[in-house]
Amino acid sequence: MNNQMLKIAIILGSTRPGRNGEAVGKWIHEVAKRRNDIDFELVDVKDFNLPLLDEPIPPSMGQYSKEHTKAWSEKIDSFDAYVFVTPEYNHGIPGALKNAIDFLYKEWNNKVAGFVSYGSAGGVRAVEQLRLVMAELKVATVRAQVSLSLFADFENFSNFKPAPFQEKSANNMLDEVAVWSGALKILRTDNRQNPQYNTARMR
Ligand SMILES: Cc1cc2nc3c(=O)[nH]c(=O)nc-3n(C[C@H](O)[C@H](O)[C@H](O)COP(=O)(O)O)c2cc1C
Repeated sequence: MNNQMLKIAIILGSTRPGRNGEAVGKWIHEVAKRRNDIDFELVDVKDFNLPLLDEPIPPSMGQYSKEHTKAWSEKIDSFDAYVFVTPEYNHGIPGALKNAIDFLYKEWNNKVAGFVSYGSAGGVRAVEQLRLVMAELKVATVRAQVSLSLFADFENFSNFKPAPFQEKSANNMLDEVAVWSGALKILRTDNRQNPQYNTARMR
């Protein structure tokens, strides 16, 4: 097994000006950084300035033509797992996050995801939707998740003040992501030559 430290991206999926997501992303990054077993990086979808998907060839073929796609691909490929920070927009995830996910394919495969969501009902409906998207990308999603309420974890729906128990909830989620990340790293390292591992589904 590769003894390199696991690398996990905290992906900030909301992009609008004045977003609550920034405070939530920074908070989960701070909680995560208290662990010394894993290298965590905050990855802000906004920084990649992705247009609406503009690659002519389906991402599952991995033939990217645009510089923004190549930069996003290189970043996402470099991680063993992802923690998605997502609000709930109309009972789903933000279009910007879905678009960013759709840009790539193999970079996500055989990896792990955990979720931190927020909204009036904790953003749980957005996460349920995101779990289905992850399944299609061959991402294993952990059970534990962090659900932040706009009523209980924010003042005036905008000043982020997470309830004390949320840190424990975050660590439970991170524990599950960490354990599965190690397991799937072995799968990726040991099975690269296995034809079934590399099967690219034709659309
Ligand atoms: C377009 C839009 C749709 C929303 N729909 C929902 C919703 O369906 N359920 C919910 O709980 N909150 C909903 N909200 C409230 C958001 O969860 C809340 O504003 C949150 O702070 C948005 O994340 P952001 O500040 O990082 O953009 C919606 C907000 C926006 C902007």
